[in-house]
Amino acid sequence: MPQRVRDLEPCQERLDQLLARYLRVRQTSERLCAPLQTEDFLIQSMADVSPPKWHLAHISWFFEAFLLTPFLKGYRSPDAAYDRLFNSYYETHGKPFPRARRGLLSRPTVAQVYAYRAHVDHAMSDLLSAPPLEWAAEIARRVELGLQHEQQHQELLLMDIKHIFAQNPLMPVYRDDLPRAPQRTAVPLSWQAYTSGVRHIGHAGDAFAFDCERPRHRVFIDDFRLANRPVNNAEYLAFIDDGGYRRSDLWLADGWSLLQQAGWQAPLYWWREEDAWCEFTLGGLRALDPGAPVSHLSFYEADAYATWAGARLPSEAEWEVAAQGLAPRGNFAESGYLQPMAAPENAEGLQQMFGDVWEWTGSAYRPYPGFKALEGSLGEYNGKFMSGQMVLRGGCCATPEEHIRDSYRNFFYPSMRWQFSGLRLAQEA
Ligand SMILES: [Fe+2]
Repeated sequence: MPQRVRDLEPCQERLDQLLARYLRVRQTSERLCAPLQTEDFLIQSMADVSPPKWHLAHISWFFEAFLLTPFLKGYRSPDAAYDRLFNSYYETHGKPFPRARRGLLSRPTVAQVYAYRAHVDHAMSDLLSAPPLEWAAEIARRVELGLQHEQQHQELLLMDIKHIFAQNPLMPVYRDDLPRAPQRTAVPLSWQAYTSGVRHIGHAGDAFAFDCERPRHRVFIDDFRLANRPVNNAEYLAFIDDGGYRRSDLWLADGWSLLQQAGWQAPLYWWREEDAWCEFTLGGLRALDPGAPVSHLSFYEADAYATWAGARLPSEAEWEVAAQGLAPRGNFAESGYLQPMAAPENAEGLQQMFGDVWEWTGSAYRPYPGFKALEGSLGEYNGKFMSGQMVLRGGCCATPEEHIRDSYRNFFYPSMRWQFSGLRLAQEA
């Protein structure tokens, strides 16, 4: 057997497994969109939201631009214009269509976007079944990145659908068959203590991680305490009732100014119905669940709450040190609630580090020491966003479970709150 073919064998097996995973992940995206009507696919409710149709096309474009065009001989896109329309922000690849105008694209139609997906899937099958030998390892790496990218967009799809539906006075229900979380009394707040020392954070090893999670490196952590669970709705309501949104002394200046400008009085999606608070969810308008983690907070709201509570947000290093060794299990998209829920009543130890809500940290999203972006246009994936954003940890009820790790760094601008974001308190020891 020629040397090159023997070398390829483990790689081909890996590509076969990747193809099976590819098809599974791609089906999940379409399953998430199955409850939508054609009209729902077109709406862009704010500049940060993309129409569901655009998401479905863009995640296909990613495979086209970074795998099919460079590696599948004779590949042709169904329409050359897609390379501009569905390029999100890869300036070194080509000039992307402006983000804020995605909602103006009535064409291609939803049917054409689904046909585009099928076209890309067919070509990806061809590529992974008979890859050019010398590029097999690079192809496998890029497919994995493309799948992780698609999973990120699956969460974005749910966030965006929720935001789109929330604009409509009819309050459309994404899925009326979503199970309701059991009503539980929250576990009493307690504190876990951590001792000072030099620790390691960041991703190590060969398993997939984004470039921004590397390299693993040393950090010094002082003594600190971390709350056993995230802040819940009842606690956040006490902050509101205590004038939390009227007391400038609790707020960072940027947050206070935004609060006044936007008229914030409660988390996004909270609705006051006579004397009771309700919450708009993917299962429709529901009574607020007091024991569930509070969600859809901006960084400023999370920080103001922590100040009011006599605590602070944890740094991302503190969060990661506390999460190390815990199984990354929790209320993720697969559990089917698509809404944060309270931990079981007699749960002990650190709860809900993974799932339910992304937890704002007090750390800016900046490169780790020794950070190296991926080469070429894919280097634009994370590195260029390391300015003005804050890190969130742990995943949420809309995140695919297999997508999360203790080293995973999510990031949003401090003003943003359409993601499932909450907080966990920290204190000096
Ligand atoms: Fe993307």
